Amino acid sequence: MLKKIPEQIRRLAVVIGTIVAAVIAIRFVILPSSMFDMQFHHRSTVEREVAKNIAFAGATVCATCHVDQMAKKSKGYHKNVSCETCHGAARTHIENPVNKPTAPRGREFCAFCHAYDPSRPTGFPQINPVVHNPLKPCTTCHSPHDPVPSEAPRECSACHAQIANIKSASPHALIGCSTCHTAPPQHKISPRSVVPSKPETREFCAKCHAKEADRKDAPKIDFASHGDRFLCWDCHYPHLPERSAIKR
Ligand code: HEC
Ligand code: HEC
Ligand code: HEC
Ligand code: HEC
Ligand code: HEC
Ligand code: HEC
Ligand code: HEC
Ligand code: HEC
Repeated sequence: MLKKIPEQIRRLAVVIGTIVAAVIAIRFVILPSSMFDMQFHHRSTVEREVAKNIAFAGATVCATCHVDQMAKKSKGYHKNVSCETCHGAARTHIENPVNKPTAPRGREFCAFCHAYDPSRPTGFPQINPVVHNPLKPCTTCHSPHDPVPSEAPRECSACHAQIANIKSASPHALIGCSTCHTAPPQHKISPRSVVPSKPETREFCAKCHAKEADRKDAPKIDFASHGDRFLCWDCHYPHLPERSAIKR
């Protein structure tokens, strides 16, 4: 009877039998049943987390003992970052200070908020942690309780590099940015809070280019008729005004 079953089918039966035996052995003999609960009964994980106490202490209680840190932080750039955002839930610590909260000294922690990410709000201070002073912890240079903003770049070109580069190769190369723009110092610290002025009228360019203007090295136009009554920069890009093709 057994001999009538083809050889291949018998071999297949042996393979299947071995697999079934292995699964049973792993489930009941090798792995403890608690691990199965975790893997296959997600609900018990949820129940375990829910059962834990909410252990935050709140944003103000830390000040009663850590006067210095609170005083520094409340005036600095991290004033809106609560102590426990960095130090973790600390209820057990205020009940007994011996239970020390963790202090996040690793670079990757600060990067949670400060690593460059295009979805962050414009103007939020961001760095690329791979190239920004690597190898040292962030806290060697920045106090976590009172991070000091980066020093404002002094040159307009630090932020407007493209305009500065274009202008440097143009007929206006020697005309400084401040001849045409009045930039309050605050613009260099927080650029969007105060924007510099821009020329508003044709008369502005005429100061140098009108026939009667004193500036000898500036090519002259007839202010009354040239370019109709359009603004000069409707036709000439002020950072790269093109030279006239008409031979003078
Ligand atoms: C009842 C007073 C008290 C309160 C309230 C308190 N702390 Fe402390 N904290 C201490 C003392 C005391 C130490 C020093 C413990 C030691 O060195 O053994 C300490 C140490 C620390 C440390 C240092 C840990 C380290 O690794 O050196 C951190 C961080 C800290 N506290 C954060 C907090 C935060 C955050 C809060 C608010 C949620 C808070 N503390 C509230 C008394 C307090
Ligand atoms: C931006 C994250 C951040 C915030 C917010 C923050 N801390 Fe810290 N804190 C740190 C880091 C990082 C250290 C470790 C500094 C080190 O080792 O140089 C630290 C250290 C400490 C220490 C140890 C002593 C010291 O000054 O180095 C205490 C105490 C402390 N923090 C309390 C507080 C309290 C209280 C607040 C809220 C008022 C707070 N921290 C807010 C990141 C933070
Ligand atoms: C060796 C010292 C040093 C270390 C380490 C360092 N920084 Fe800086 N950081 C600076 C200096 C100097 C500036 C200001 C000049 C600049 O923008 O490069 C700055 C600027 C910044 C700015 C402001 C950028 C802006 O556009 O306003 C942020 C945010 C910052 N750092 C976060 C970090 C973080 C996060 C780490 C750790 C991953 C870190 N820094 C490590 C020295 C350091
Ligand atoms: C929970 C988010 C968060 C974490 C974590 C965090 N920061 Fe900040 N950081 C901020 C906010 C918010 C500001 C203020 C931004 C503003 O005023 O536009 C700030 C400002 C700064 C500035 C000032 C930059 C400037 O030019 O204005 C520096 C430097 C800085 N953080 C360094 C650090 C360092 C170092 C750590 C790690 C110890 C850290 N931050 C962790 C949210 C965070
Ligand atoms: C720290 C970086 C930074 C520096 C330094 C800086 N700017 Fe700007 N500037 C900006 C940013 C960012 C904007 C864009 C603001 C916006 O789009 O709302 C801007 C906008 C402008 C504008 C356009 C305003 C408008 O209404 O369209 C002018 C003009 C200008 N800057 C001139 C200057 C001049 C001149 C200097 C040097 C005295 C200078 N900036 C230095 C960052 C900077
Ligand atoms: C000859 C006068 C002149 C000089 C010099 C000049 N600008 Fe302008 N700039 C203008 C005018 C006019 C506009 C307005 C253009 C418009 O509205 O289309 C302008 C616009 C801008 C803008 C707004 C964005 C744009 O491209 O239209 C920025 C930013 C700016 N200038 C920065 C600078 C910086 C930085 C320098 C120095 C490197 C500089 N400018 C030099 C006349 C000048
Ligand atoms: C409707 C467009 C238009 C307007 C508006 C305009 N221009 Fe022109 N501008 C031109 C053209 C076209 C030329 C001649 C280009 C050529 O000859 O190749 C020119 C030439 C010039 C020249 C060179 C003259 C020479 O002889 O070399 C200057 C300087 C000049 N413009 C300045 C201005 C000033 C200043 C204003 C504003 C008061 C202005 N332009 C407004 C179109 C305009
Ligand atoms: C402070 C004086 C000054 C102001 C203001 C000024 N320019 Fe000029 N501009 C010059 C000088 C000088 C040259 C010629 C430089 C050279 O030939 O090397 C020039 C060249 C030009 C040229 C090229 C003309 C040619 O054929 O070579 C144009 C176009 C021009 N300016 C347009 C403008 C416009 C538009 C404005 C207003 C946004 C303006 N300029 C504001 C001084 C000025």
